[in-house]
Amino acid sequence: MNSPKANSFPKSTMRERSMGPNPLKLCEELLGCAHIPAGSVVLDLGSGAGLTSALMAREYGLVVYAADLWSDPSENMRFFEGCGLTGKQVIPLKADATALPFAAGFFDAVVSVDSYNYFGRDPNYLGEHLLPLVRQGGELLFAIPGMVRDCHDDLPACLLASWTPEQLDFMHDMDWWRANFAQTEGVEVLDMHEMACTREAWSDWIGCDNEYAAGDRAAVEAGALDYLNTIAVRLRRR
Ligand SMILES: C[S@@+](CC[C@H](N)C(=O)[O-])C[C@H]1O[C@@H](n2cnc3c(N)ncnc32)[C@H](O)[C@@H]1O
Repeated sequence: MNSPKANSFPKSTMRERSMGPNPLKLCEELLGCAHIPAGSVVLDLGSGAGLTSALMAREYGLVVYAADLWSDPSENMRFFEGCGLTGKQVIPLKADATALPFAAGFFDAVVSVDSYNYFGRDPNYLGEHLLPLVRQGGELLFAIPGMVRDCHDDLPACLLASWTPEQLDFMHDMDWWRANFAQTEGVEVLDMHEMACTREAWSDWIGCDNEYAAGDRAAVEAGALDYLNTIAVRLRRR
């Protein structure tokens, strides 16, 4: 795929800071489905080591709050500074998605790449914790690692080559997510589709030199991507 903004980051940076399938390519494709004007205030939810936050701030001119539970905001700030970004363009913070410290209606948009399935599987999550922070008419864009069709009752061996049934329970198909979002009032599903860059993003990930990427390699090489996809979700607060 053509991902000029994602590819503006050195491959070595992508490899050092990815925590899953290439988040830069996923984010560029995801943002291509929507129009978030420069200057918009965006929550990058589950921002990890900050790749997508840096991409959105530097390449799209968005004001990005990079919120993550496991990563160190000071280390992320150093990365952002190395990308030529200031604390006015991207604001790193440690925060739990279920206790976000922001005023109601603060954000023009939310973007979440490879993270929403950690906390958003609870059908009450969206309405109780996230939607209220987005202004009316604001959009929420998620790239969720998913399944082509839920197969939890009969998991194929290729998936079990790298993951336990408990880990695979974090992945679901589009119908499952549609039913999850349908339980929240005040939100409109504008679009859901399978993302085109999934295989490329996974290929970049298993080429990374870390133990998590190495652990995922067996499943991918055994054919896991025939069963897995990435689901792009575009929601709007009414
Ligand atoms: C697979 S990593 C993806 C990180 C990043 N978006 C990327 O693609 O490189 C999942 C991220 O979700 C974050 N996360 C998980 N549970 C969370 C929670 N309750 N609140 C905030 N972040 C959470 C973790 O801190 C982790 O960085």
